Amino acid sequence: MTLDRDEGSKRIPLAAAGAAVACLLALAVVFTKDLIGKGPGRDDIPKLSPEYADPSTVRKVRTEMTFDGAPCQACHEGAEPLQGNPHEKGIFHEHIELKHGRNQHCFNCHHRMQPADFSNFDGSPIKLDNIQLLCAKCHGTIYRDWGLGIHGRRSGFWDTAKGPLKTQVCIACHNPHWPIFKPLKAAPPPHINPRTRAKGGKTAGAENHGGLD
Ligand code: HEC
Ligand code: HEC
Ligand code: HEC
Ligand code: HEC
Repeated sequence: MTLDRDEGSKRIPLAAAGAAVACLLALAVVFTKDLIGKGPGRDDIPKLSPEYADPSTVRKVRTEMTFDGAPCQACHEGAEPLQGNPHEKGIFHEHIELKHGRNQHCFNCHHRMQPADFSNFDGSPIKLDNIQLLCAKCHGTIYRDWGLGIHGRRSGFWDTAKGPLKTQVCIACHNPHWPIFKPLKAAPPPHINPRTRAKGGKTAGAENHGGLD
């Protein structure tokens, strides 16, 4: 059996077609004049605070070894090794909170003769722009993982023909003196569940999310 389209359309009565058009016109009026109202409406979804979209690392990596604007050599001439008690900070560096587990000795890291540099096991200096080698002294497996992109953060391009692959250095995330990675504040959930809307029709804040109240 074949369906003849022309035959079919001829069979629609004119009255039915007219009724359908009238219905659509009536609906158009209802919607444009807003005759049945807009209903309870939707919650305003608050804009995400820009701090959550900030791709920078938790620490800003210093590019030169200065303290209070002065290079380390200004006070530590380097002619003589730093002599103080290895656990003493001296009045000038009271701000340093050394909470690095059992690693409590300034000169495990800082070079005695070249105060702007760091110290390798054999006493050779490690420069600030190679600081991962200092951490590698004691965190070998993490250093290996970091080199493979397993630890830390990779951004940029996997296909290096298209652009550079970016790696972040250890001290972009860890304060060398107090290296534990501190908890970050989680971003609010992306949508507000209408059921968690606070009484009075106000939008519930992210802290109400989960409908526990
Ligand atoms: C304004 C002067 C000044 C500057 C600049 C300065 N220091 Fe010091 N630093 C001191 C003093 C004073 C002491 C305490 C000396 C002491 O106790 O023998 C000290 C102590 C230290 C110690 C502990 C070892 C010790 O001998 O007590 C380290 C490590 C150290 N400084 C590193 C640095 C580094 C790294 C810089 C550069 C980023 C720097 N300092 C810049 C004044 C300074
Ligand atoms: C785990 C290695 C490590 C140890 C231990 C350590 N430092 Fe540092 N320190 C660093 C590194 C790396 C930097 C430079 C990078 C940075 O500041 O982010 C630095 C920076 C500094 C600075 C300049 C920046 C600032 O915050 O003023 C001073 C001064 C300093 N250290 C003093 C000390 C003193 C004094 C001690 C001992 C009480 C100490 N450090 C122990 C690794 C270490
Ligand atoms: C001289 C050895 C030594 C060096 C150099 C060193 N660390 Fe450590 N690090 C330690 C020790 C020891 C611990 C503590 C392990 C423990 O107590 O379980 C530690 C712990 C840590 C932790 C874990 C902190 C925590 O509380 O869980 C981090 C993160 C860390 N180090 C990062 C670094 C970074 C980044 C550098 C380079 C700037 C560095 N370390 C250099 C010896 C070192
Ligand atoms: C992009 C940020 C980032 C970089 C770069 C980074 N780390 Fe970490 N690291 C972290 C975070 C986040 C943790 C905490 C993981 C956790 O708590 O489970 C951590 C944990 C650690 C720990 C503690 C591991 C443990 O098992 O307790 C050590 C040690 C450490 N990092 C060393 C390093 C060293 C050394 C480098 C450089 C070679 C480095 N990190 C680079 C973010 C970073």
